[in-house]
Amino acid sequence: MSELVSYTNDDGIGIITIDNPPVNASSQPVRQALAAILASMKQAGDVKAVLLRCAGRTFMAGADIREFDGADIPLPDPNEIHALLESLPVPAIAVLHGTVLGGGLELALACHYRVALRSTRLGMPEVTLGLLPGAGGTQRLPRLIGVSEALDMIATGKAVSADRALRMGLLDDVFDADLDAQALAFARLAAHKDVAARVLRYRSFDLEQGEALVLEKWLERLPPEDKGGRGSRACVLAIKMAAELPFDEGLEFERRSFLKCKASTESKALRHAFFSEREASRIPNLPDDLMLRPMTSVGIVGAGTMGVGIAMSFANAGMPVILQDLSAETLARATEAIRTTYGAAVDKGRISAQDAESRRGLVRTATDDMQLAQCDLIIEAAFESLGIKQRIFERLGKIAKPGAILASNTSSLDVNKLADASGRPADVLGMHFFSPANIMRLLEVVRADLTAPDVLATVMRLAKRIGKVPVVSGVCFGFIGNRMLEGYLREAEFLILEGASPAFIDEALEDFGMAMGPCRMIDMAGVDVAAKVVIEQKKANILPEDPTYRVVVQALHDAGRFGQKTACGYYRYEGRKPVEDTDVTPIFVELARVHGIQRRTDITAREVVQRCLYPLIAEGYRILEEGIAYRPGDIDVVWLSGYGFPAYRGGPMFYAQTLGEAELAGRIASYAETRGNLFGYWTVPESLQRARR
Ligand code: CAA
Repeated sequence: MSELVSYTNDDGIGIITIDNPPVNASSQPVRQALAAILASMKQAGDVKAVLLRCAGRTFMAGADIREFDGADIPLPDPNEIHALLESLPVPAIAVLHGTVLGGGLELALACHYRVALRSTRLGMPEVTLGLLPGAGGTQRLPRLIGVSEALDMIATGKAVSADRALRMGLLDDVFDADLDAQALAFARLAAHKDVAARVLRYRSFDLEQGEALVLEKWLERLPPEDKGGRGSRACVLAIKMAAELPFDEGLEFERRSFLKCKASTESKALRHAFFSEREASRIPNLPDDLMLRPMTSVGIVGAGTMGVGIAMSFANAGMPVILQDLSAETLARATEAIRTTYGAAVDKGRISAQDAESRRGLVRTATDDMQLAQCDLIIEAAFESLGIKQRIFERLGKIAKPGAILASNTSSLDVNKLADASGRPADVLGMHFFSPANIMRLLEVVRADLTAPDVLATVMRLAKRIGKVPVVSGVCFGFIGNRMLEGYLREAEFLILEGASPAFIDEALEDFGMAMGPCRMIDMAGVDVAAKVVIEQKKANILPEDPTYRVVVQALHDAGRFGQKTACGYYRYEGRKPVEDTDVTPIFVELARVHGIQRRTDITAREVVQRCLYPLIAEGYRILEEGIAYRPGDIDVVWLSGYGFPAYRGGPMFYAQTLGEAELAGRIASYAETRGNLFGYWTVPESLQRARR
């Protein structure tokens, strides 16, 4: 017996316990120990039933994903374990709690019965890692719950509640409490029952009428293999094979397909994203005994769109917040906006009316800023002006209780200056929420020069508590995300001046996988907002001396084409639908004429993608060189969770690896030659240059 898997006998009921914190992942030593115990139980002896349970916070949450990086997965194969379970002469009962995912659910499917605590969630999230379930999930699950439900679970990766699983027949019983005692009682009732009928591998399975069509429909809807659809397509095909092949052949098909997917760039990218997101919340070199600051009350200064979104982020996580604004009218509008947002969530069935009511109740409003004095954290979400924000920080520095953390939601201003103004810089940092703040998961946590380590660590922990994906950035214009966005938008504009239409550019980048092309993105965020960034750059004296720099967005701004909000920007809008607008072309043609830019007709989608993405990636290298980001993975997390970079490409820094750094450096250098490099747009970053040598 190993420490990871133990075996006891409770008056004839064998109890196998897996104890591999934190999530009982099925690592090689776990599989080895489990296989050894099961092999020794082939002859049941005095055992009448077997319970398979896990210690700690959850039943097995899947295979150990770290093992997928090697060429082979170390033996024993989970399928061997499943075969041992299915061949037991007495009932095996999986006792489930927590998050029963992937290989964990597959293990449970190999048991004869499954019982769970009501709070349990069950799912096959492999597809979110570019994989299909690799240990019988695609063969056993449809045999148990039918094709449609199995497809829903396997091809979307979405988990289901225990209640739903019970209704589907995935579970045999659900308990509200006392899981172990209830499971023991269940085992005593099940003892000596005939197990053969409960073994899923023996269950015959054919496609019912219409199910073949359902499978075809799924395949039609899924993206192509080279556009992030490799894993999901493999899921659907393996389920199809479950109906077409004998069980063992289906299992073999699934295994081959799993190994192929595991080796794909899509899966490597998605696994990188999974681990990077978790790594991003770790701050290097913190003392082990660092105490976090208390965090029970939050105040927000400024009840505009951002303030309201931030307030709802806290309320959604059950945290009370005070929303302060000098204007009672603004507060009334904010209260209405919160009411409307929660009302819409109830209408769409996302939350219950009771939830909406309690969340609304968590947001208190105040005109008097002294109401914030006792808050553990105060987030300033005022108008983006250095003067205004400095005055607010000066005031907060005086009224906030000692030890309170002061944060700014600035997207571009120098947090060091705000820290200075507060008179207590150790307490100050940036919390750059993305709009809409109650929806977007990304949070850039901006570490100023004098931010205290416990302040940074406390805010990182808090961010996770409210369901955000926090990434630390140092102070620089635009922090990580917007700083990299700058080169991307710059090149998109140059391409427009050279003759590419906004729709051509958007399509090229959307075809690459971006959730939304740059022109549609600016139209949505507001051309005025985007133009303001350029104006701020001008003020901060960091604009290149290039007269053609970002002239398009400024011209659209001057023409009052603010994007969706004015029904015209790069496009014109029919409702929210963008339509190509010939009225806008003369603006581009005139700008090109004024700046002496030759318009051409030979711009390809490939050129669009390279010219927009390479400067973005190059800036990522500079951000690392300057120590603004801790790790390349942090940059990827920013782009994956905040800017719609395709997850199956792993983020810009991972994508650079797949291109090959030397190759990338060479391509950037060749753009420097063909396009000229007067303003340093195509300078190869030093760290990338090294890859060339
Ligand atoms: N393998 C290896 N490590 C895992 C893991 C897994 N399957 N699941 C979680 N972890 C690690 C995380 O990396 C994290 O490690 P650090 O603390 O070192 O960062 C730790 O466990 C805790 O994870 P979270 O921070 O994510 O904790 P959480 O409570 O927020 O979420 C969870 C728990 C819901 C289980 C979540 O971790 C999760 O979704 N895990 C992935 C589950 C999954 O995809 N399973 C399928 C694996 S593929 C498979 O099983 C293939 C097959 O068919 C054989």
